[in-house]
Amino acid sequence: MSIRFDAEKRIFTLHTLHSTYQLQADPLDQLLHLYYGARTEGRMDYLLCYADRGFSGNPAAAKEDRRYSLDILPQEFPYWGSGDFRSSSLVVRGIDGACGCELRYRGYEIMPGKYSLPGLPAVYSESGEDEAESLKILLEDERLSLRVELLYGVLPKLDVITRSVVVRNLGSAPFCVEKLQSACLDFVGGEYDLISFHGRHAMERMPDRRALGHGAAVVGSRRGYSSHQYNPFVILAEQETTETAGRCWAMQFVWSGCFRAEGERDQFGLTRLQMGLGEEQFSYPLLPGESLVGPEVILSYSGAGLERLSHQLHRCLRRHICRGKYRDIRRPILLNSWEASYFDFSGESLLKLAQEAAALGMEMLVMDDGWFGNRSDDRRALGDWTVNVEKLGCTLGELTERVNALGLKFGIWMEPEMISEDSELYRAHPDWALAIPGKPPVRSRSQLVLDFSRAEVREHIFECICQILDQGRIGYLKWDANRSISDVYSHAATDQGKVLYDNMLGVYEILERLNTRYPDLLIEGCSGGGGRFDAGMLYYSPQIWCSDNTDAIDRLRIQYGSSFGYPVSAVGSHVSACPNHQTGRSVPIETRGAVAAAGTFGYELNPAKLSGEERRAVREQTRVYREDADLIREGLYYRLSDPMSADCCAWAFVSEDGERAMITAVLQALHGYMPPLYIRPRGLTPGAVYRDRESGRCYGADALMDMGLPLPQELRQFDSFVWRLEKC
Ligand code: GLA
Repeated sequence: MSIRFDAEKRIFTLHTLHSTYQLQADPLDQLLHLYYGARTEGRMDYLLCYADRGFSGNPAAAKEDRRYSLDILPQEFPYWGSGDFRSSSLVVRGIDGACGCELRYRGYEIMPGKYSLPGLPAVYSESGEDEAESLKILLEDERLSLRVELLYGVLPKLDVITRSVVVRNLGSAPFCVEKLQSACLDFVGGEYDLISFHGRHAMERMPDRRALGHGAAVVGSRRGYSSHQYNPFVILAEQETTETAGRCWAMQFVWSGCFRAEGERDQFGLTRLQMGLGEEQFSYPLLPGESLVGPEVILSYSGAGLERLSHQLHRCLRRHICRGKYRDIRRPILLNSWEASYFDFSGESLLKLAQEAAALGMEMLVMDDGWFGNRSDDRRALGDWTVNVEKLGCTLGELTERVNALGLKFGIWMEPEMISEDSELYRAHPDWALAIPGKPPVRSRSQLVLDFSRAEVREHIFECICQILDQGRIGYLKWDANRSISDVYSHAATDQGKVLYDNMLGVYEILERLNTRYPDLLIEGCSGGGGRFDAGMLYYSPQIWCSDNTDAIDRLRIQYGSSFGYPVSAVGSHVSACPNHQTGRSVPIETRGAVAAAGTFGYELNPAKLSGEERRAVREQTRVYREDADLIREGLYYRLSDPMSADCCAWAFVSEDGERAMITAVLQALHGYMPPLYIRPRGLTPGAVYRDRESGRCYGADALMDMGLPLPQELRQFDSFVWRLEKC
């Protein structure tokens, strides 16, 4: 039993293998947070301190007792109106215009298995073996007839606890939810850093670690999608926490729309960490009988540093968020047409690519943007999902058949959520685009966003996708979305404050229907590269194009940052041509291969332009990747150095049973009179001896982890080195 209730003290204890989470319904029916940390038995209510707090808010229920203030106590679900002036998880406005409520604990329910959230992505548990359990806690506000259901999912073996919240209107008058955060953690005492992941198009998820001082540190997205700029994943770490030691906590949002993550240090040095829906452009009215779901947040705690935290999250996302046929199997090695030919292709030129791909050991050809309507560049035709037979010189069915005949699968690119003003669809339905009447809409990549909060828009697009996918044996869909949402106005909505949220649910609905109708289809998420790289999308697509930046050296940083929260099996990564199209940098083909191999692996170039030597290298890469793929996808991932500062970026995969390891090092910078560089692996089985597959040399695991492997002395910039070790 991972969830226990102490009826006398009204304390809920949630245990995972290595962590304990505790909360209490106190005598005033307030829900207080007691503890989240290393696994422990016993009650943690001794942490609560009371003294005269007359200069803080004292709730009416406390009567004359000025020692009771929610402004100071650690809380489970802080709400505006309680006298707590820190950042709230819930702000509600009643029909009288007043903001504030008073939530009281009203009961609980413990359920076997992991709860699910209809219409939303969420962690799932498949078998009784997971021993998952769920807890529902009920809070109610009498005046508004408002009920809050706090949902907790405990996956003990994963060391993961999920949180979500449902707000219901049980009364006869509407009220409006102005702010909703799904998870809050209050920490009494301690000095913490907030680690977040910022970026921009083509340079996503750069780690940023800052000390939390008094006040708030907020990251989030107002862009309608999770964004390149801030990822919906943060870590709170004690200041001395490193990769391998120290306490840290993760919050990962299973949501792809606007979000907000906030770390706040208050007057008493108490730290609050919250995550939930973005506040701006959100104002969600609930009519009598209606409810609103706050998307799920995955929580995880590690007392052994960031590495352990990442491993816990990787396991959770890989097996309990990702779904479908491709969850546990090697993905096809693909050749994508984008950087090979951009918009300039025909059926014949694609077939040539496919022939080359087959000869080099690749397994799928992906026809990227440019195959539909009059899409000759990125300024038109989004929404016109009819095959440009003239451009291809054949039907889609014929093309896929000919590609399949070469022994390759066929994949296709679409951008279903978007619409170009220069399109048949826009001319027929201008009101299907999100745009504020009377205001010229802000364009981005010359396009507008379709209103997926409307059922008829979704239905039309779903039919378009199906009629494309039904034209041939299409094994893969790259689902792209290349702009943020600026002019939030739906012609069909009764309330504009709901549109962004409902739009996101609309996108999820179509992705869910596609997964159901095409169980063998591999969907790769994409959003101008990695602009929607989040756990929400991973529920529908087990891999996401990680960045439009394919430069192997920049990718070291992008993939390093991504690895904190996301498994390598999710990281779409390709070898591209040199000089690189984004940076102009030239990097040896072996290094481009080694970096792309820390991902789903594929190519994004015209193989006909490769030299004979490069072709040999590519043939070898595809052969070797097939051998390594299981270790890369399922193995534990170790960040061995920090590419943001180190000259050499190194990482390792170690199989969970410790039998195999693969260590990769890439030299980022060379210096004069270069001292030797040693790569120290981690995660090998202590006491074991490992043999290097290539040299046959044996190494004792402990000494190897202590002293490391030296890099060869003849170094060129951007060289890479891969060691494959097997336990003797
Ligand atoms: C986005 C994607 C690219 C490519 C182009 C096509 O930028 O990230 O990989 O598909 O769109 O327009």
